[in-house]
Amino acid sequence: MILLLGSSGYVGQAFATELRRRGHSFIPLARKAINYADFTLLFDYVRKVKPEFIINAAGSRGKPNVDACELAREETLFANTLLPQTVARVCSMTGTLWGHVSSGCIYRGAKLILSGNTQNVEGAELRRLFAEHPERICGYTEWDEPNFAFRHPPCNFYSGTKALAEEAIRGPGRVYIWRPGMPFNERSEPGNLLWRLQNYARVYDGVNSISHLEDFVRACLDLWEMQAPVGIYNLTNPGAVATRQVIEMIQRILKPNRRFEFWKDDEEFYLRGARALRSNCVLDVSKLLATGVRIRPVEKALEDSLRHWTVSVGELVHH
Ligand SMILES: NC(=O)c1ccc[n+]([C@@H]2O[C@H](COP(=O)([O-])OP(=O)(O)OC[C@H]3O[C@@H](n4cnc5c(N)ncnc54)[C@H](OP(=O)(O)O)[C@@H]3O)[C@@H](O)[C@H]2O)c1
Repeated sequence: MILLLGSSGYVGQAFATELRRRGHSFIPLARKAINYADFTLLFDYVRKVKPEFIINAAGSRGKPNVDACELAREETLFANTLLPQTVARVCSMTGTLWGHVSSGCIYRGAKLILSGNTQNVEGAELRRLFAEHPERICGYTEWDEPNFAFRHPPCNFYSGTKALAEEAIRGPGRVYIWRPGMPFNERSEPGNLLWRLQNYARVYDGVNSISHLEDFVRACLDLWEMQAPVGIYNLTNPGAVATRQVIEMIQRILKPNRRFEFWKDDEEFYLRGARALRSNCVLDVSKLLATGVRIRPVEKALEDSLRHWTVSVGELVHH
């Protein structure tokens, strides 16, 4: 039996659906039922129930976006760093294998290969190089230290707490640390990057590795089912995309007549569009692919999502 923490959330619901589809028995534990952030309560519960695997999909990502985490610092630190640390202690003391939903946003930019050397590149320079020489752009691997974290400022508060959690839980226990990029899929809902891009007044053009939500969840469970070595895994769809490319796909497949406005440059975006710095990063998924887990390239996942775009009944009525 599997214990699922954060099952009511955007990511947690996707785990619940996939666990059901695979026929795994699991308990979707809600904080209302048992406050699983309390060490003693969780410790007693895990000793009693003896799950074979615990999934931590709980956390606080800020709503409507990470700017909210700059104000709700206590809650963000508690949900993103202290809660995983509690789960890690419980799992270590009970010998329970577990998986933690981390995030790719603990990096900023990408690596540029130039005459055999690598250097970091970000912002306008990354956008230009990615458009002109995409073959020179590489993602960060699991062996690269996070460069958008409290240890490597500047970062935003959300990313700082996510990077700190990775440090806090890499201890004696056995844990998969899964790093998704911004999630998207075919459903028209606010957690979906494709929905958000269609609803921003202006769009920020970044270069990112991103995750089809259900592809991400399947890859997490595949790693566990195939007993892949525990540790950190970048879990985005292979490749990277500039937001401008995604917008072009939306126009081509979904909304041919829709015009999109972009922020002029980073300066304008950070002056008028955002409070906190954004991560915008490229990740390398070679480690994941080397395990044999299969996951669609990002262009294919985006194309499929847009071709199968589904609008909820509520949204149809609203329009
Ligand atoms: N969505 C994204 O864009 C994204 C991208 C990368 C990584 N992630 C990571 O995925 C995890 C889940 O994110 P999500 O998008 O599913 O978030 P969400 O929809 O807001 O759900 C958060 C879940 O966390 C639980 N939770 C436990 N303690 C909490 C606390 N103190 N404050 C807020 N929530 C708490 C809640 O479960 P209860 O029902 O038990 O209260 C809730 O189900 C987070 O760790 C986040 O960093 C998300």
